[in-house]
Amino acid sequence: MSLTSFPGGGAPSTGTPLTKVTMPALAEMKRQGRVISALTAYDYATSRLVDEAGIDLILVGDSLAMVVLGHENTLAVTVDEMLHHTRAVRRAVKRALVVADMPFGSYHGTVAEGVANAVRFIKEAGAEAVKIEGPRVELVRALTTAEIPVVGHLGLTPQSVHKMGGYRVQARTEETVKQLRADAQALAEAGAGALVLEGVPREVAVAITAELAIPTIGIGAGPDCDGQILVFHDMVNLTFAPPAKFVRRYADAAALVREAVEHYREDVERHAFPSDEESYHLPKPAQGALDAKPRAAKVHALRKI
Ligand code: KIV
Repeated sequence: MSLTSFPGGGAPSTGTPLTKVTMPALAEMKRQGRVISALTAYDYATSRLVDEAGIDLILVGDSLAMVVLGHENTLAVTVDEMLHHTRAVRRAVKRALVVADMPFGSYHGTVAEGVANAVRFIKEAGAEAVKIEGPRVELVRALTTAEIPVVGHLGLTPQSVHKMGGYRVQARTEETVKQLRADAQALAEAGAGALVLEGVPREVAVAITAELAIPTIGIGAGPDCDGQILVFHDMVNLTFAPPAKFVRRYADAAALVREAVEHYREDVERHAFPSDEESYHLPKPAQGALDAKPRAAKVHALRKI
């Protein structure tokens, strides 16, 4: 990497104007009936591509515990790990709203602890909002008072995997639908700026989206939410598992990367990489001082993309 250039800057490839997306802008999009696009991202390169593609909201999701760090669920990731990834995303993103997921345990004690941890995401990592799971109305109110924009997250909340007994679609009975609607309303009234609805029946998402002034962002909640979010690795087939019903795969990055790496290995093994053109050379006068002979010129067809 030391001699490879890795410049900053660059305009969005879509020509999307660089008007910064803010939390109030999301509410305005809802008012105007413009759909919010959102994706997770966890590192510089991916976030930069996602931002340049014109996605409105980038969530540094705690799903990174699974798709980046290889844990079985989201519970193990720490505040420090989330901060580390949020900083990388922050360095890449110019336009999208950067939301950091607060990991399990970082807001499950006192409200004061939750606020203190959320402050770290804003202050130390440059997040513009935090996301918390569950109907934690008191905490949302405290974060709002502390000037920290909050995205709520209801329905299938992965940090409650043990309590839920697995990843199951939520709000399937009259009673649980009623509770979800009440929770959504309470979070909005407490100051949440947007609400992720995960793993709920389409009809329930329709009702909640109509009832709230703040935007809903769905994942496994049907097409009627104010916005949609997917886990980046699900969308490009980097999860090594069959996709959930709600995932649409837009690319097969696993196949692309596997093929590229296999070609590289083959080229290395048959001395086809690097070529003479890909090598640095001594200036002509200095070459005479060395009697080192390059490997007998094996001419191999270069496989270039
Ligand atoms: O962590 C995550 O990726 C999320 C999305 C599923 C919304 O919370």
